[in-house]
Amino acid sequence: MKKKIQGLLLIAVLSALPAAAQRKNIDQKVDSVLKLMTLEEKVGQMNQYNGDWAATGPITKDGDKQNQIRQGKIGSMLNVTGVDHTRTLQEIAMQSRLKIPLLFGQDVIHGYRTIFPLPLGEAASWDIEAIERSARVAATEASAVGIHWTFAPMVDIARDPRWGRVMEGAGEDPYLGSLIATARVKGFQGKGLGNVDAVMACGKHFAAYGAAVAGRDYNSVDMSLRQLHEVYLPPFKAAAEAGAATFMNSFNDLNGIPATGNKYLQRDLLKGQWKFNGFVVSDWGSVGEMINHGYSKDNYEAAMQASNAGSDMDMESRSYIQHLVKLVKEGKVKMAVIDDAVRRILKKKFEMGLFDDPFRYCNEQREKAQWNNEANLQASYDMAKKSIVLLKNDPVNNLGFRALPLKENPAMWMQGNTSTKIALIGPLVKSVKDHLGFWSYDWKDDTARIKTLWDAVKLKAEPGAELLYAKGSGIMDTSRAGFAEAVNVASQSNFVIMYVGEERVFTGEAKSKSNIHLPGVQEELIKAVMATGKPVIVIIGAGRPLIFNWTAEHVPAILYTWWLGTRGADAIADVLFGDYNPSGKLPISFPRAEGQIPIYYNHYNTGRPAANDSDMNYVSAYIDLRNSPQYAFGHGLSYTKFAYSDITLNKKTIRPGDKLEAKMTVTNAGKYDGEEVVQLYIRDRVGSVVRPVKELKGFQKVWLKKGERKVITFTLTVEDLRFYNEQLQYVYEPGEFNLYIGGSSADVKEVSFQIVK
Ligand code: BGC
Repeated sequence: MKKKIQGLLLIAVLSALPAAAQRKNIDQKVDSVLKLMTLEEKVGQMNQYNGDWAATGPITKDGDKQNQIRQGKIGSMLNVTGVDHTRTLQEIAMQSRLKIPLLFGQDVIHGYRTIFPLPLGEAASWDIEAIERSARVAATEASAVGIHWTFAPMVDIARDPRWGRVMEGAGEDPYLGSLIATARVKGFQGKGLGNVDAVMACGKHFAAYGAAVAGRDYNSVDMSLRQLHEVYLPPFKAAAEAGAATFMNSFNDLNGIPATGNKYLQRDLLKGQWKFNGFVVSDWGSVGEMINHGYSKDNYEAAMQASNAGSDMDMESRSYIQHLVKLVKEGKVKMAVIDDAVRRILKKKFEMGLFDDPFRYCNEQREKAQWNNEANLQASYDMAKKSIVLLKNDPVNNLGFRALPLKENPAMWMQGNTSTKIALIGPLVKSVKDHLGFWSYDWKDDTARIKTLWDAVKLKAEPGAELLYAKGSGIMDTSRAGFAEAVNVASQSNFVIMYVGEERVFTGEAKSKSNIHLPGVQEELIKAVMATGKPVIVIIGAGRPLIFNWTAEHVPAILYTWWLGTRGADAIADVLFGDYNPSGKLPISFPRAEGQIPIYYNHYNTGRPAANDSDMNYVSAYIDLRNSPQYAFGHGLSYTKFAYSDITLNKKTIRPGDKLEAKMTVTNAGKYDGEEVVQLYIRDRVGSVVRPVKELKGFQKVWLKKGERKVITFTLTVEDLRFYNEQLQYVYEPGEFNLYIGGSSADVKEVSFQIVK
């Protein structure tokens, strides 16, 4: 009790100190602990093991983890959750000589107990506040079960939907990606480390993991430093600036050097130029994998290279624990390298308040209160609705009306006493766990909290409508045996809702695909159902952009719904019926064919740009396919229509210090209230290095009642027009610029201005 009171007093005294004094105070404490530590204990802090539910029980094949904790050989564990488990292990850490608390880390990627949409889905909301809120809820739930640290956000830019981890990031754009990286770090870390509902964030995977050659996971990356700085690093920089407590390096080699052993990335850039004062954890086993890369002879050399390069903690490769002591004794790794790493790790343990009270995250009451928390569910439901993208909503063939939204849409419903028949067809209609997507936990009682689409539509449609069901096919089926039943059910109905896509485990780590077409015979199933002539709405659930060209061309109404989390089906039903007007915009381009990949909107013009999609005359184009994506970055429709006026500028030329104001009026010219993401792009016409045809530089999400109009103003300065020149200096250059505003990267108004000296 006395100890606890002392701890509380310490926290009170600490929080009363000004920030700089607090930092100094923590630095002094870290130093005083460091002085007491043996080399073996220091190396122990740099060692992270996977938890093992048996860790609190019998001896594992790695030896007795409990004993290793007791001997101060483990600084952190991952995949140990629950107040009970974390407390048991922390109690053992308190039996070690110096009583240094353990850090418990976990991949809390899009929610812990309450699952939110996939990060890529959330990015489609372009709603930075909502994204921060989502991370906040995740942190609140995770911290309540004893977790101190999430291995998120993943801020890898991804231009390649074959790469399975595209689902885990914010898509292809560095500007949007940076804002989202900041929001997620802020959300996870809340009011700051040391608050009991904050978890440490981890910017990963440093760096350029998303540019794996051919989209194959863990594959090599080779790119110019300019491209690295301009496209792939900005979200990492943003995460560091937002105060991310930790970074994780990556599995890939970058220009021939594995990221884990990459001194330029970790020491020179991150800890040097960017002044990052947190610590870097390796990716799972990535220190040891440098042997496979052909960069290290053995684990001994790998430990030397990784630690010298600035990788502070070894996740699961056991290279550090086995070799670092010897390496220091032999002079291959300087004591200063070890001290720096341990200082960084201890500092975070102090900042988290774990030295004051190692059990402060072990509170059963909090754990219970967060387990089935209504407010958290509500937040995930809101986020789910915001993440849905309406790809298409054309009038139904020959019928002259749009199918969506269903509510108050007389063309879709039987009048009088006859009940409307709705066919629900497709392999995902009765899916439960798919809604959670990859990187989610499969709690035993989750099924009770997750609705199928069938249930969610039933709730809205009954009474008054009768629901008919046919699976049609499985996701991966080659058999068409179920088509006849699907066609039969469709024929009896007034309209058809189809739910097709991927399985939740098709997109994620180690889930790269060479073929990203809608799997199995699902597109044929859509064709068969469309042949009935009934109005058809297709919903696609997937973790990545899929290819579905026939559907895109022929089906009048298409919703892209990623995986939306615990309340996913309710959110989809709200959008179908019009209780929520969709406003999502694609954070990544959707290709027409795998052959177009990598495909991204912010490409260069080339010396022979195609004038349009059908220009193939010795220009940069394909002879068998159009250049444009099926759906462009920033695309997404609403049930209402937004009209954009021309753009006006307050001046045609700007100098350093000037503010360029671009104004335009957006009018809600449709029949529904709704929200639009107004996007601002620029193009630097001539540069000392070539510049992209468009670069996102701003956006605003505006809510307009039907008939309402609003003047939208964007402000730019020369600072927003900087880029990395050949010498990697971050500069702006005088010259002419185009400025575009619109509702998608492919649908904009245009003006021009100049930067003058
Ligand atoms: C992934 C990381 C993850 C780690 C721990 C690795 O395989 O690449 O993103 O944080 O495992 O689960």
